[in-house]
Amino acid sequence: MSDNVKRRDFLGYSFAAVAAVGGAASLVAMKQTWDPLPSVLAAGFTEVDLANAKPGTPSTVTWRGKPIFILKKTEAMEQSGRDLVIGSDRFTIAIGLCTHLGCIPAWKETMWKCACHGGEFNASGVNTFGPPPRPLDIPPFSVKGTVIVLGEEGPEYKQMAQA
Ligand code: FES
Repeated sequence: MSDNVKRRDFLGYSFAAVAAVGGAASLVAMKQTWDPLPSVLAAGFTEVDLANAKPGTPSTVTWRGKPIFILKKTEAMEQSGRDLVIGSDRFTIAIGLCTHLGCIPAWKETMWKCACHGGEFNASGVNTFGPPPRPLDIPPFSVKGTVIVLGEEGPEYKQMAQA
């Protein structure tokens, strides 16, 4: 083997070694890019204290970019298996996107009405009129005292989701 050939081989191996190290480094960099940042993971959970909720007046919080309806029910409102019961209080927790085509229904005294095609949902979030094919979806949540943590699947959520 001539000196020239040996030298070429050496250069070839060196290049391959550098390329392999570089490839591994870019894989690590890519993985870091794909992994959610800790701040993003933390942002997946939203805590809401229900202690000061006013009966009959829903509030809307944002969780993962979606509106979440939270309604403390009045005595006059019908009870449902979809209610979150804390002590003697009953709450409706629902994703505020119409199950027809995704518009955001608005609260009108005793129910949510969807302006897009006239769909209606009662105070429990159950579809009662118009094209919506099913009740408002319930977001995963867990309960800690009077605080709900949106994004965490607690036993209350699992029970309500089956109702
Ligand atoms: Fe709500 Fe059609 S999107 S009724």
